[in-house]
Amino acid sequence: MENLFQLGDHEDFFSRRCIWVNGPVIVGAGPSGLATAACLREQGVPFVVLERADCIASLWQRRTYDRLKLHLPKQFCQLPKLPFPEDFPEYPTKRQFIEYLESYAKHFEINPNFNECVQSARYDETSGLWRVKTVSSTRTEVEYICRWLVVATGENAECVTPDIQGLADFGGQVMHACEYKSGEKFKGKKVLVVGCGNSGMEVSLDLCNHNASPAMVVRSAVHVLPREIWGKSTFELAVLMMKWLPLWLVDKLMLIMAWFVLGNTESYGLKRPSMGPLQLKNTKGKTPVLDIGALEKIRSGDIQVVPGIKRFSCGQVELVNGQKLDIDSIVLATGYRSNVPSWLQESEFFSKNGFPKAPFPHGWRGKAGLYAVGFTKRGLSGASSDAMRIAQDIGNVWKQETKQKKTTTTACHRRCISQL
Ligand SMILES: Cc1cc2nc3c(=O)[nH]c(=O)nc-3n(C[C@H](O)[C@H](O)[C@H](O)COP(=O)(O)OP(=O)(O)OC[C@H]3O[C@@H](n4cnc5c(N)ncnc54)[C@H](O)[C@@H]3O)c2cc1C
Ligand SMILES: NC(=O)c1ccc[n+]([C@@H]2O[C@H](COP(=O)([O-])OP(=O)(O)OC[C@H]3O[C@@H](n4cnc5c(N)ncnc54)[C@H](OP(=O)(O)O)[C@@H]3O)[C@@H](O)[C@H]2O)c1
Repeated sequence: MENLFQLGDHEDFFSRRCIWVNGPVIVGAGPSGLATAACLREQGVPFVVLERADCIASLWQRRTYDRLKLHLPKQFCQLPKLPFPEDFPEYPTKRQFIEYLESYAKHFEINPNFNECVQSARYDETSGLWRVKTVSSTRTEVEYICRWLVVATGENAECVTPDIQGLADFGGQVMHACEYKSGEKFKGKKVLVVGCGNSGMEVSLDLCNHNASPAMVVRSAVHVLPREIWGKSTFELAVLMMKWLPLWLVDKLMLIMAWFVLGNTESYGLKRPSMGPLQLKNTKGKTPVLDIGALEKIRSGDIQVVPGIKRFSCGQVELVNGQKLDIDSIVLATGYRSNVPSWLQESEFFSKNGFPKAPFPHGWRGKAGLYAVGFTKRGLSGASSDAMRIAQDIGNVWKQETKQKKTTTTACHRRCISQL
């Protein structure tokens, strides 16, 4: 505690409410933050979770479409220490997943500080502590001081909205996929879906199912794989094969099997990248599309595949091949990005793109008590393995120190050192 009084920026320090956190601060109450908190709870380590939204798992609750289901079988998506209920289907729905996360938070008594957006976090060399500044929805500023900082703000913290020529002149409705809920409002409309990742494919499928006419922009190459191959999850098959075979061979086998199930996707305008799907995922982080019906709609012509965009004008898009299409609305399924560089003042562990520099499985621990969870590009299973490692690491130090303190002095941990 004594090093707290050596903190720099004295004026700043005393002008806002300042809270000493007895244990780590976890930034983000998505699945990664919750998993870390649960594992810390098991280790007996106290923590504070800071969340900018007014709920847990805000990506799932606020920024995903209604028809969303987990793409991978449930055993790869459950968080540590508490399995999914037995009656959950193989691919839980978004609602079921949210219910599970709510009960997970309740079970481990995780009560995040909601509506607190982390504005900055920096390591104070003098005191050897992290200073985490937040602003709440009521504009109240708080500074948390802690020894450990766990970054759990996710790979998908912010939407990517490309700056395409003429978009401002389009005139019709333009939304990002994170605002799209259902195709109901688009009945009878011509909708341009920009992007052919899992979001673009699924939004296009949903639009078809609601009697809209989607055209999907595919500007480069994409790997489309069936979600299941002969009744077995494609992902599970890949995991199984990876135990025995080299990655390049698994990639080859996956593509052969995909060809048997889906046929030649290139004939529908979906050119495959030269790199195999697993290698592409590992090196570039680009997720293959797991098809759940969009390909059938592309085959039947219900989803039109179109090349890249040249420019927009009023009610119209011009494509790179010169073709012009009249459209009513645009859904930008153009992906997401990490927001870590916007608030974390650190450049050794995290790179400019907001991901840890060290590749999996080394990107979970930085220096001076800094940790990252959920940046492995391996979805929920990657987040779970990070969370367990982090909690173990912090728990070891915690147990060592609290044991020592018990024998020497009475506990001196405090929550609050100064209140405004
Ligand atoms: C449409 C969609 C479907 C997906 N489906 C799957 C799937 O089926 N399986 C799978 O494994 N993965 C899936 N993913 C990937 C998904 O990112 C992970 O499943 C999971 O949500 C990652 O959890 P997370 O906690 O790391 O990040 P998030 O769920 O994004 O949670 C991060 C939290 O941090 C908060 N936050 C961000 N910045 C700040 C700040 N400055 N201050 C305070 N709080 C902040 C956010 O509000 C958010 O609540 C999907 C992603 C999308 C977009
Ligand atoms: N059910 C599920 O499990 C589910 C559903 C949806 C999403 N997800 C996950 O969520 C994450 C994000 O997926 P996502 O599909 O939203 O994003 P994504 O995978 O990053 O895909 C973005 C797409 O937008 C395209 N794009 C970007 N800018 C463009 C531009 N200016 N013009 C034309 N195209 C452009 C990209 O093309 P290029 O490839 O050419 O860059 C790409 O096709 C992924 O991990 C995904 O697996 C999961």
